[in-house]
Amino acid sequence: MASAEFGTVFFDEITLANFDGEKWSDTRFGPSDHLPLHPASHVLHYASTCFEGMKAFRAADGAVCVFRIDDHIKRMQNSAASLYLPVPDAVQLKAMILDLLKKYKAQVPAFPGSAYIRPTLIGTDPSIGRAAAPTSTALLYVLISPVGDYFSADATMRVLLDTENQRCAPHFGSVKSGGNYASALGLIQKAKEKYNTAQVIFAPNGDVQETGAANCLLISDTELLTKPLNSEFLPGITRDSLLKVAAKLGYQVTERNISANELIEWIKTGEVALSGTAAVLAPVGEIVYQDQTHTVNQGKEAVNSKRLRKYLNDIQQGIEEDTFNWIT
Ligand code: COI
Repeated sequence: MASAEFGTVFFDEITLANFDGEKWSDTRFGPSDHLPLHPASHVLHYASTCFEGMKAFRAADGAVCVFRIDDHIKRMQNSAASLYLPVPDAVQLKAMILDLLKKYKAQVPAFPGSAYIRPTLIGTDPSIGRAAAPTSTALLYVLISPVGDYFSADATMRVLLDTENQRCAPHFGSVKSGGNYASALGLIQKAKEKYNTAQVIFAPNGDVQETGAANCLLISDTELLTKPLNSEFLPGITRDSLLKVAAKLGYQVTERNISANELIEWIKTGEVALSGTAAVLAPVGEIVYQDQTHTVNQGKEAVNSKRLRKYLNDIQQGIEEDTFNWIT
């Protein structure tokens, strides 16, 4: 399982619920390999969709631990509200996730594998006339993929620091919606072709924000530094968890704006790592800035990023005590 490409293998079933314009239906199970949709469905034309990404881990005693399920559901409700999509009922969505996990519990892989949980909400009005109006009907479903690492803790990524472009529309960055990923895709691909980079750190006008699919954290022996949340980028739940873990481990945690030049100065002696549910905390090895390659922290091992990643992973698997109450 761990050798399959991330997110390409799924439990046989998904859980689904429909919003009919007035209320949510009961939850049902359905096959995970097809979804009948009207070709005029609102989502297919006007991108009325949002999703979540959370993980469940197998503990040493065989229990399955879901990480920060309520916070992910809350964020999905916020995304849905921003898109004027029917807001999922938190109790129903939680049960949709847990019921599916319970049924396929045996397929949750052991660490470093996990079950990547992808609740998805789509607008289903069969109307291509509603370009400027919200959908009134919707489908909510939960898809689960047994996965391995997205980036291993030892990967040292080469990334472009791009001061010209922004990942997505600035008023929409905090929404976890497919359109935001689509908007960054071409820029990441162009950077790959030109600079052989795996990711782009978007820093419009020199303001260091996030990458296409992860937040950006600066880490040293004593400090964790990152941009404060605003509407322009995703409020990562892994980001938030790492800030809390870092404070617990005695790092000074600072949220303030960071300029591109400051980032380049920082990496002379400090680490940079990308955080997200899939990425966990993935150290950056090289940054391309203004056509020059800068080696992060003189090529030394990212010991602080690895320490934070391990501590977080240990909480997720029930090895470290869950003092934050993050595990279901
Ligand atoms: C996540 O980390 O949950 C994401 O949505 C990123 C995606 C590349 C898997």
